[in-house]
Amino acid sequence: MTLAERTFVLLKPDAVQRGLVGRIVARFEARGLKLLGMKLLTVPRTLAETYYAEHRGKAFFEPLMAYITSGPVVAIVLEGEGAVAVVRKMMGKTNAAEAEPGTIRGDFALTIGRNVIHGSDGLESAKREIGLFFKADELRAYTRIDEAWLDE
Ligand code: RTP
Ligand code: MG
Repeated sequence: MTLAERTFVLLKPDAVQRGLVGRIVARFEARGLKLLGMKLLTVPRTLAETYYAEHRGKAFFEPLMAYITSGPVVAIVLEGEGAVAVVRKMMGKTNAAEAEPGTIRGDFALTIGRNVIHGSDGLESAKREIGLFFKADELRAYTRIDEAWLDE
């Protein structure tokens, strides 16, 4: 048995508008990652600024704010062994033009400015981002019936 990690995923407004939510969530479920929380919301400007605080001042910050607040998004908390790195790998490179086929961005996106998905880049950012989008009582702890077959 190994220790499960939690990570935060945001399906960006283009994923919702383009009807990709189900296909993307299906990939995480099939991989064996457990859904602990999931909700549809429109990100207020204040939350967008806090969430992307590390990019404040960069040339793409304002376009990024406009993009992320432009429509509903789906916020997700996933749990599983090595979840942070596994999800980053499944997403592919930030610039979707360079993302490998088979990755989410490599299959569903073309550019860096409309790259469909966000995933936490480390355990600390995962904790921070989960806290920004979810209250503790919005996350569910349960055992998935296939868990015994996902680990040795
Ligand atoms: P994310 O935070 O959304 O998961 O993406 P990431 O870690 O792969 O990339 P990051 O460097 O954190 O950039 C955050 C988001 O900002 C947009 N971006 N645009 N036009 C540009 O040069 C540019 N660079 C970044 C992307 O939407 C990227 O996902
Ligand atoms: Mg990032």
